[in-house]
Amino acid sequence: MGEQKYLQFPYEINDVTPEEQEQIDKVFGSIVNVYRLSRFGPRGYMLYEPYKKDAANIYNMPLRPTDVFVTSYQRSGTTMTQELVWLIQNNLDYSKAARVPLTERYFFLEFFMFFVGNQLDAFIRSIDSHLNENTLKEIYTVCAQPISKMLAEIPVSTPRFIKTHVPLSLLNPKLLDTAKVVYVARDPRDVAVSCYHCAKLFKTIRFPYGFKEFWNLFYKNMFVYCPVFEHVKEAWEKRHHPNMLFMFYENISKDLSGFVCRVADFLGKSLSPLETARLCEHLSFENFKNNKSVNQEELRNNGMLDNNELFIRKGMSGGWRDYFDEEMTEQAERWITDNLRDTDLRYPHMET
Ligand code: A3P
Repeated sequence: MGEQKYLQFPYEINDVTPEEQEQIDKVFGSIVNVYRLSRFGPRGYMLYEPYKKDAANIYNMPLRPTDVFVTSYQRSGTTMTQELVWLIQNNLDYSKAARVPLTERYFFLEFFMFFVGNQLDAFIRSIDSHLNENTLKEIYTVCAQPISKMLAEIPVSTPRFIKTHVPLSLLNPKLLDTAKVVYVARDPRDVAVSCYHCAKLFKTIRFPYGFKEFWNLFYKNMFVYCPVFEHVKEAWEKRHHPNMLFMFYENISKDLSGFVCRVADFLGKSLSPLETARLCEHLSFENFKNNKSVNQEELRNNGMLDNNELFIRKGMSGGWRDYFDEEMTEQAERWITDNLRDTDLRYPHMET
């Protein structure tokens, strides 16, 4: 039947092995113990189990030429890219950008997977929020809803802005032939450090150990959205597609106005020098970190974030050096070399 064909997810989904699960359980003392991870597709991408229920819908999601996707392996500069893309596509409407949180201006394609249907009580316990139980239940129920159906209901006249960390191979194969995609990549060691802080930031994860314990999982691909290299390589291979803009976080930080111009150009818009300068000012780390519309303030207000951590955190390149001891530095070097052996992908720090 036609409909069944439409809903096919073409890849295998495998639960993590008992050995992997044991290692995950050892260090994630919190809700992650009940949020099982599974591996999706031949590259074995780690996604939370609820992703299964929308994997086929996401893979087959009807696309529109007006869609803009901002994609990345998490913690690679997605948020600043989202803000820039949205502003450029919305006639630099700074007042709306300040009024409406970024989380409401974008659909976060797989956000639902962080909310496991039958784990409401564990969720409520884990975040220990000041909000009452009914309000938390409402928040949980809304967040746990897959959004592919909601996306389909958006009027065709309304451009859709979509954020996702799901790798390209798990999205509609026609994505690049239909919509625009901006992909950001970053030195995977800085990504690891940033993910570690994120795992401490979200109370649902509340990672209880130090960076070394986190790194030991991360570089063995036992964290959500891993493996990071496969993720980046897939996008790198498509970097010459006219609907793909592939950027490195390090280059963005070094040359913010170059970033602004490249994104504008990619979206078919031209900016005056004054407009470019204002965008750079807006995106500068100091301003961005105090921008309540982009720093997940609404999650903090719901009690979902730890008070000792920030979503927009340090904004540095090479900050990993403060976290890696000699052994980890060597491990990371081998990890990078091994994973780049079969590709011409090179990160900016490797350029002489
Ligand atoms: P750090 O944790 O290293 O500070 P994402 O948006 O993909 O989640 O990436 C988050 C990372 O980008 C965080 O890295 C965050 O601080 C950094 N970041 C966010 N906005 C930034 C900006 N305007 N300039 C530089 N870095 C920024």
